[in-house]
Amino acid sequence: MMYIGLSCGFHDAGLSIVADTGNILFAAHSERYSKKKHDSNLCKELILEARSYFVNSNFELHYYEKPLLKALRQFRAGQKIGPLSVKQIVGADLYDMFGDRPIKTHVHHKTHAAAGFQTSPFTDATVVVIDAIGEMDCITIWDAWYDDKGYARYKKLWSKKYPNSIGMFYSAMTQCVGLKPMDEEYILMGMAAYGKPSYANRMASYYLQSIEDVEFRHNLHIGLEGNNFLSKADDMDIAASAQLVCETLIEKVMMRAKRIGHSKNLVYGGGVALNCLANRLLGKHFHNIWIMPNPGDAGNSLGAAALGYGKKINWHDAFLGTQIKGPYPVKEVINELTNNKMVGVASGRAEFGPRALGNRSLLADPRGPEIKDKVNEIKRRQKFRPFAPVILEEYVNEYFTMPRGWHDSRYMQVIATCRHPNLYPAIVHHDGTSRVQTVPKDGSGIRQLLEAWYKKTGCPMLLNTSLNIRGEPMVNDRSDADRFEKLYKLKVIS
Ligand SMILES: [Fe+2]
Repeated sequence: MMYIGLSCGFHDAGLSIVADTGNILFAAHSERYSKKKHDSNLCKELILEARSYFVNSNFELHYYEKPLLKALRQFRAGQKIGPLSVKQIVGADLYDMFGDRPIKTHVHHKTHAAAGFQTSPFTDATVVVIDAIGEMDCITIWDAWYDDKGYARYKKLWSKKYPNSIGMFYSAMTQCVGLKPMDEEYILMGMAAYGKPSYANRMASYYLQSIEDVEFRHNLHIGLEGNNFLSKADDMDIAASAQLVCETLIEKVMMRAKRIGHSKNLVYGGGVALNCLANRLLGKHFHNIWIMPNPGDAGNSLGAAALGYGKKINWHDAFLGTQIKGPYPVKEVINELTNNKMVGVASGRAEFGPRALGNRSLLADPRGPEIKDKVNEIKRRQKFRPFAPVILEEYVNEYFTMPRGWHDSRYMQVIATCRHPNLYPAIVHHDGTSRVQTVPKDGSGIRQLLEAWYKKTGCPMLLNTSLNIRGEPMVNDRSDADRFEKLYKLKVIS
């Protein structure tokens, strides 16, 4: 038996396949195939590739939310009502390739919880889900454990319903500074380092009924209203203020989770878990933390498949998508880095999740002042945003001070303070922090590369940013890599 999880119809469509051994056979995003960022539809090429991972025809389909419940919320909120039929949402291509069969639907926040808990190293956990919105729930806290037959069990302990949403608040503030909501929240987070949180108190008192209970006065889903006090505010100050309000609310939820949850292990999911700046605070409340590397809605395809399978999933790493065959090109990459300081890599299976972790990466020598501009000639991103470092895990404490409770950051999920910012300015933000990726002794390609780089230079880290053509999602296959090479005249090695 195989379990196919689907998330689509709103944004960031994804498809995951879990076998009855608990192994993840495949997990990928539509956007990487269709080249449309945040593509909400399950595109044909993705489905076709997923089909190639099938070893038999005995399978179930699982969808990441309940369309009827969602439609009820849309009706109550006076919004346009989406399709009620899950078959209509997933589209005809799926049936053409898999045949017509029923699709089991799951509650949105429960799929977030399952994507986190069933991939985590824990046997029990307090699960916190914070996103913009599922069907009705915007924040949930769960107890999760395995029963004596090994099946995952979930008990919802607390929830906040629409429109009391931390995610919607952050998206509304993203829009307020002229960025694209549901897309560019990470830029708002980066801007926070340059501002002062001078509007945080006014934001909180104007928009929130209760900080303790995360209750909003306004429905920020329909946009900001009455925010005249922000009309002349500096965008950086708005970003810093929004970040502080967001962090205050997240901490209130975490404190509640600690109070009412029965486990010391935290599993955290939902799109808000991508806020790596806020994530530094989690260790104040929990000893052990797990955030699945794809905690937003695209990762929910894995959550839906996990609920279908029911038991613990064998989690190894996030390299679960399209395969570019061949050994990791360590020697060639080192040569390019030595000669040109910068190189593209497209090797092995593509990352599941928003971050390039070494298999679809643009890598550079992080030492010295000139490298940031060199990488930015290609990336052309806002000058104020730094790039991220990828480092051999055993050296992380020599180069960075990790936040309390965090011993590693294998999927770039938290910021750490750089101990030598003057030596590595390209990977350090204005506030002295870096969004660090630590690589354990796991035999992966990026591990082998970092070991060789360290041996040659004495530097255990590289600059790592996603390999993508501007305006497009990350490179997926070799033909994307060829287009990249041609356009930017930068070697991409497979
Ligand atoms: Fe969600």
